[in-house]
Amino acid sequence: MKPKILVTREVFDETLEFLGRHCEVESNQQDVAFDPETLARRLADKDGVVCSLTDRVDAKLIERCPRLKVVANIAVGYNNIDLPACTARGVMATNTPGVLDDSTADLAWTLILGAARRLTELERRVRGGEWTGWRLKQWLGMDVHHATLGIFGMGRIGQAIARRAAGFEMKVLYHNRSRVGSDIERRLNAAYVTKDELLRQSDFVVLQVPYSPETHHLIGARELKLMKPTAVLVNSTRGGVVDDAALVAALKSGAIRAAGLDVFENEPRLNPGFLELDNVVLVPHVGSSTEATRRAMAMTAANNLVAALTGGTPPNLLNPEAGKK
Ligand code: GLV
Repeated sequence: MKPKILVTREVFDETLEFLGRHCEVESNQQDVAFDPETLARRLADKDGVVCSLTDRVDAKLIERCPRLKVVANIAVGYNNIDLPACTARGVMATNTPGVLDDSTADLAWTLILGAARRLTELERRVRGGEWTGWRLKQWLGMDVHHATLGIFGMGRIGQAIARRAAGFEMKVLYHNRSRVGSDIERRLNAAYVTKDELLRQSDFVVLQVPYSPETHHLIGARELKLMKPTAVLVNSTRGGVVDDAALVAALKSGAIRAAGLDVFENEPRLNPGFLELDNVVLVPHVGSSTEATRRAMAMTAANNLVAALTGGTPPNLLNPEAGKK
């Protein structure tokens, strides 16, 4: 008998076809996110789940799913999953690292350039009929080339962001929980600095750390005050890494110059203060959202799930201890 699985959100046809070859699939192609009670009911008799960052997989849910063996997240971040709770119940959890590094780095760069050159603000002005002719001092932006880029979090995506900085001949600083190898530092031409040094020296501060209790409000009022008044903050990782209320205040008062944001606290209900500001570029959590990358992420999650349910080790297993339960 095939294992039973739930796919919590809409996926691509080829993902469903692949899953269907190995599993009995119940899928939510209507794509309306399940509330916690519905998710628990749907998952109660399932062996596995392909889920997304909009699904909270916590101890309470896992308690109600006695057959569950694998939680395959379609995302590299997995702060929606209670990993210790999975491990305690012998449930394997997986994510989708690697396949989205370049697309996510491209989006971080879209935000760097967009914020520096006021892209969305100026488009609004053009559409609104404000452009009446060329002027020398018109809507001046800031240079990206030869500026200093500070990257918080030098994992795969942070490194992909740093690689792109070479084309702009930037000085690259980084801060990370642990320093990366000197070979990587040399290749990226990146210098390790403390958190406060990075904030003080950078013209562009890009956040690429995973969200966790340790990184909650990594950037708040104190940190924003340390930044240059001419600096730009880019958050392309997770809402909650930045204290959004403090950021709104800093953008309003001119404590920093601008921001580029793909992620927000309580998204999609972002802080309304952002909507009143011209000096912030806002996009709706689309870091990995290219056709090729989203297809690759869905297939990566499906492969992880099938490996777990057919007696193998999923390639992107987050909690190897779970398999030993
Ligand atoms: C997207 O935010 C991801 O974590 O993959």
